[in-house]
Amino acid sequence: MCGIVGYVGHRDTKEVILHGLKTLEYRGYDSSGMALMTNGEIIVEKKAGRIQNLEDSMSDKNFASEVGIGHTRWATHGVPSDKNSHPHYSMDKSVAVVHNGIIENYQTLRKELEDKGYVFASDTDTEVISQLVQDMYNGDILDTISKVLKKLEGSYAIGVLHKNHPDELICAREHSPLVIGIGEKENFIASDVSALLKYTKNVYYLEDGDMAVLKTQDIKIFDKEKNPIEREKKSIEWNLEQATKCGYPHFMLKEIFEQPQVVEETFNKRVHNEKADFSDILSYEDIKHIDKIYIVACGTAYHAGLQGQFALQKIAKLNSATDIASEFRYNDPFIDNKTMVIFVSQSGETSDTLAALKEAKKKGALTVAITNVVGSTISREADKTIYTMAGPEIAVASTKAYLTQITIFYLLALYIAELRNSISKDEYKKYISEIKNMPEKIQHILDNSEIIKPAAEYFKDKTSGFYIGRGLDYKIAVEGSLKIKEVSYIHTEAFASGELKHGTIALIEEGIPVVVIATQRELIDKSVSNIKEVKARGAYVISVGFEDCENLKNVSDNFIGIPECDDIFSGFLSIIPLQLLAYYTSSAKGIDVDKPRNLAKSVTVE
Ligand code: AGP
Ligand code: GLU
Repeated sequence: MCGIVGYVGHRDTKEVILHGLKTLEYRGYDSSGMALMTNGEIIVEKKAGRIQNLEDSMSDKNFASEVGIGHTRWATHGVPSDKNSHPHYSMDKSVAVVHNGIIENYQTLRKELEDKGYVFASDTDTEVISQLVQDMYNGDILDTISKVLKKLEGSYAIGVLHKNHPDELICAREHSPLVIGIGEKENFIASDVSALLKYTKNVYYLEDGDMAVLKTQDIKIFDKEKNPIEREKKSIEWNLEQATKCGYPHFMLKEIFEQPQVVEETFNKRVHNEKADFSDILSYEDIKHIDKIYIVACGTAYHAGLQGQFALQKIAKLNSATDIASEFRYNDPFIDNKTMVIFVSQSGETSDTLAALKEAKKKGALTVAITNVVGSTISREADKTIYTMAGPEIAVASTKAYLTQITIFYLLALYIAELRNSISKDEYKKYISEIKNMPEKIQHILDNSEIIKPAAEYFKDKTSGFYIGRGLDYKIAVEGSLKIKEVSYIHTEAFASGELKHGTIALIEEGIPVVVIATQRELIDKSVSNIKEVKARGAYVISVGFEDCENLKNVSDNFIGIPECDDIFSGFLSIIPLQLLAYYTSSAKGIDVDKPRNLAKSVTVE
């Protein structure tokens, strides 16, 4: 949550920060602000609402400045407002701080400072940091910050300016992401690399406990005790084009349309000579004794995990279970050294997932991360990391990252199945070829995306709806339902079709949309019966099934066909119309599709 950006260098600092904030806006967007060091003073400008408000308020203000920090907020403490926006000054305005995370002991610290006479200007937890820096300042800014950090409990990535150090940008991290961008006579900080792509591809990923001092021509990194340390210089593989809309009205639509390409890239990265190959990450030695797999994640990544579980059971014949990260730790999972726990996270920064990962490691599991972001915290914490090839995903609602996670799961299931001799050669060959053909089939659905618009037109005026499916289709229904909730604010619920008669059918009334996913051939008749049941009570049925499925088509008000494939791979395809349905419904309602209310893409608080 929240995006931090900072700059030291010769460019127009205000513009660099505005650009960075706009790129990071998907991380939080209830307010924004920046602090610029100018003529020995720190100027702070901040505004509630979208970054455009900040830009407008600064349009006629030009400050000569070579050092600055900016922030786009996702409020945790204090309502979104001008005064609660970051950066936060200290009382005497000698310090300005931007912060991502939560200071859990802020009430105690605030009380101590207030007792000393400090007056607070905001309701945030963050402001204690700037006040503490003022209070504890001893002339040595690094020493001061290091002492301040020792008083903080919780999570933070911070950027700090101090007026007595006008050419320095100080930053630190603990449980929240922060990356340093290395330029020529200029340096940057950002919450993620997308803000840096325009300027540099060389970065240092800070680790928990790191502090750094950036000057125009110098970057120094320190551990908690102020000992200088080295971090490996990494090169970012993503490019600027991937992080721009390229003519699409929204990132979400662009990312939906990128799916054939990213599934293919993920396949090509992991399949060599028609064999799924993860030997660079997981050896036979690593997995031969594994008798149980847990998959742990949040939100859409959790839904990818549900499909992953299906693939691991069907293909690798391994006992698997999926759990929500924030529940996993408290469910007291039975973990021993024969357990592999797979953590799925697009961003690699989700706090709930990270906390569950630490717990699983403590209990002796083999931990494997599936993530999209190289150098992310989860990728560094896990024993093994498998990267998807989705490229930067900017829209808050995940689409292409989800599908590449699923691609990884199916290929991993095939890899494990082969190592453990649980699949026949013929089946293996057939399955590889099924996955290989997916990009073309996804493209076919996208080429005909117009056919989904009438369903979106129907949905847009409704206040609620249902998504139902059986077996694998149920796992798609939950993601379809989340997608439309996130971006169109229509309340929908997903449930297993068989559960309909056990309660939820009471909610079916005239005109209510029911989206039915029915691709599992042996279950089609049962799904048709469920459709009849809801239609008899007035539901409007939108169904997703294989193109030639006449009996499904015949009973539906609106039928969306997908290309043929083996049933166990249908999730690659049936999700595409549901993503488009969510997108078109959202844009028909005039919602800011890429930045739906109350959400943030990367949830770095528990
Ligand atoms: C996706 O549509 C959502 N933004 C959300 O459910 C997301 O999947 C979840 O917060 C987990 O994020 P992660 O994949 O970065 O860990
Ligand atoms: N806890 C801080 C606040 O509420 C920072 C939130 C964020 O990460 O955006 O202001």
